[in-house]
Amino acid sequence: MQPGIRTQLIPPSVAYRESFLLALREFRKEGLPWWIGGDLEIAEQDFAAFVARKLADATRRNGLVVPKTHLWAVAEERFVGRISIHHELTDALRVEGGHIGYDTVPSLRGRGIATQMLRQALPVARTLGLSEVLLTCDETNAASIRVIEKNGGSLRETKTLDPTQPRKRYYWISL
Ligand SMILES: CC(C)(COP(=O)(O)OP(=O)(O)OC[C@H]1O[C@@H](n2cnc3c(N)ncnc32)[C@H](O)[C@@H]1OP(=O)(O)O)[C@@H](O)C(=O)NCCC(=O)NCCS
Repeated sequence: MQPGIRTQLIPPSVAYRESFLLALREFRKEGLPWWIGGDLEIAEQDFAAFVARKLADATRRNGLVVPKTHLWAVAEERFVGRISIHHELTDALRVEGGHIGYDTVPSLRGRGIATQMLRQALPVARTLGLSEVLLTCDETNAASIRVIEKNGGSLRETKTLDPTQPRKRYYWISL
C-alpha cells in the first residue's frame, strides 16, 4: 500500500469481509473497545448479519442508544478504517464519545487515513441535520488531536474525568 493513500468512505459492505476480519484481529491485539461484545463473533461467523446490524444502527433508537451511521474507509479494495456519526448527543456522549469516533487499522496508521475519514464524514454529518459536531479526545492522543485540528476542530474545554486517566479534550467543528 502506498505511503499516502486516497481513501473513500462507504457504508459497511459484505464485499470487504476478508480485510475487515484481518483488521479486527489487529484491533483485538491492540485492545480497542469498539468491536468488543457480540460483534466479533457475529462478524466471524456471519458477516452478512454483522453488516446488516451496522447498517441498522442508523435507525435504531433504544433506551440510551441513539441512531448512529457507520462508514468504512476503503483504499485499494481493502478496509483501512472506520468512522461513525451519532445523529444526536446523549448526556453520556457529551462526556465521552461525542458525535464522531474513528479508528485506523493499526498497521496502516500515519498515512493520512484518519484525516481523510474525518474530512469526508463532515458533509455526511451535515446531511444528517447537524450544524456542529462534538469530538472528544484524550489529551495524550497526539495523532487524533492533529486529525481534529486539521479538520477545523476548535478546542472548547478540557476536563479531568478520572484522575488516573488522561484529561479529556472537547472539540467542536462547525459544519
Ligand atoms: C488517532 C488515529 C485514528 C490516527 O489515525 P491515522 O490514520 O494514523 O492518522 P493520520 O495518518 O491522518 O495522521 C494524522 C496526523 O497525526 C500525526 N501523528 C500520527 N501519529 C502521531 C503521534 N504518535 N504523535 C504525534 N502526531 C502523530 C501525523 O503525522 C498526522 O499529522 P500531519 O498530517 O501533520 O503529518 C489512530 O492512531 C488510531 O486509530 N488510534 C486508536 C483509536 C483512536 O485513538 N481513535 C480516536 C479517538 S479520539
